[in-house]
Amino acid sequence: MKKVSILVLFLTLSTILTAAGIKESIRSFTIGAAINSAQIRGADTLGVAVIKDNFNSIVAENCMKSEVLQPQKGHYVFDLADKFVQFGVDNDMEIIGHTLIWHEQLPKWFTLNDDGTTVGRDELIARMKGHITTVVNRYKGKVKGWDVVNEAILDDGSWRKTPFYDIIGEDYIRLAFEFAHRADPDAELYYNDFSTALPKKREAIVRLVKRLKEQGVRIDAVGMQGHINLEFPKSSEFEKSIVAFASQGVKVMITEFDISTLPSVNFGANVSDRFKYTDALDPYRDGLTPSIQSAWDEKVAEFFALFFKHSNKISRVTVWGVADSDSWKNNWPIVGRTDYPLLFDRNYKPKPIVEWIIQNAK
Ligand code: XIL
Repeated sequence: MKKVSILVLFLTLSTILTAAGIKESIRSFTIGAAINSAQIRGADTLGVAVIKDNFNSIVAENCMKSEVLQPQKGHYVFDLADKFVQFGVDNDMEIIGHTLIWHEQLPKWFTLNDDGTTVGRDELIARMKGHITTVVNRYKGKVKGWDVVNEAILDDGSWRKTPFYDIIGEDYIRLAFEFAHRADPDAELYYNDFSTALPKKREAIVRLVKRLKEQGVRIDAVGMQGHINLEFPKSSEFEKSIVAFASQGVKVMITEFDISTLPSVNFGANVSDRFKYTDALDPYRDGLTPSIQSAWDEKVAEFFALFFKHSNKISRVTVWGVADSDSWKNNWPIVGRTDYPLLFDRNYKPKPIVEWIIQNAK
């Protein structure tokens, strides 16, 4: 209770302070944002200004996914990804590539033959190699690190049964990392997943990192996505995962941080989850209630305090979007809701918690 009132007092007072950018205040890790096509193309001028003032790291929200980069076999479309990388270069930002091998936003051709049958093992490995090599090579020396494999493990710690797993077996992960390393030996390579605070998933990721290291594969960090809500996870469980991953000799990155304020209807961040809209599931169209607002403030403060506590293990914290209106949470897992998961409001103004982050940064 005492903690809450101190935070409320701070947030009230902070509205009279003028906020410097977040990036100047954080010295121990980079602070990033996922950026969308309107920002990359410069159409969202307010969003671009917020990005330049506050973030020193960027990741592509969608434009480096395989369905965008290689919509048809052998036909690459680099237009937006090139602009994204140029934006990072022009603004002297750390550029993160997301993502090379993922079962979502994966074009159909990737795992199918022309006649619609499923490709064989050797062919899928060849396609993975071709895609990874072409993409990583194009941005060699500019992209600092890649989410090489995204979401390969289920909440119970078993392998997710993706086409990559089904056709190649668990070795597809090692192969993907090796292809990426060969294409750019200087690039950092990451494994990225959601719900990484769950004990079984945590243990499985630890096993994966250990195995890759035993096999002599380069892996620099585990990305904990951090799509969370007011109920899940507890910061104590999240903390156990930060410690467990770091103990394997890799860095930890919080790669897709957002805290939804809305009633949750599912668990985790499976992008294929879809639920029907009802008014009851969209209660804050006209603004948050004071109690939800303070619960959100408290949870952001609690998690950033955790990140600062473990700043020797964490190399980057990235939020999944800039202003609330950008957030994928407005349309996932239910289309058309109004959520408030990010650090900047719908008027592109920093929320009071931003000043708290600045004042408490390490
Ligand atoms: C999301 C994007 O934010 C949406 O715009 C898109 O429609 C679906 O994907 N985990 C990931 C991200 O690794 O790539 C996802 O991004 C969110 C969940």
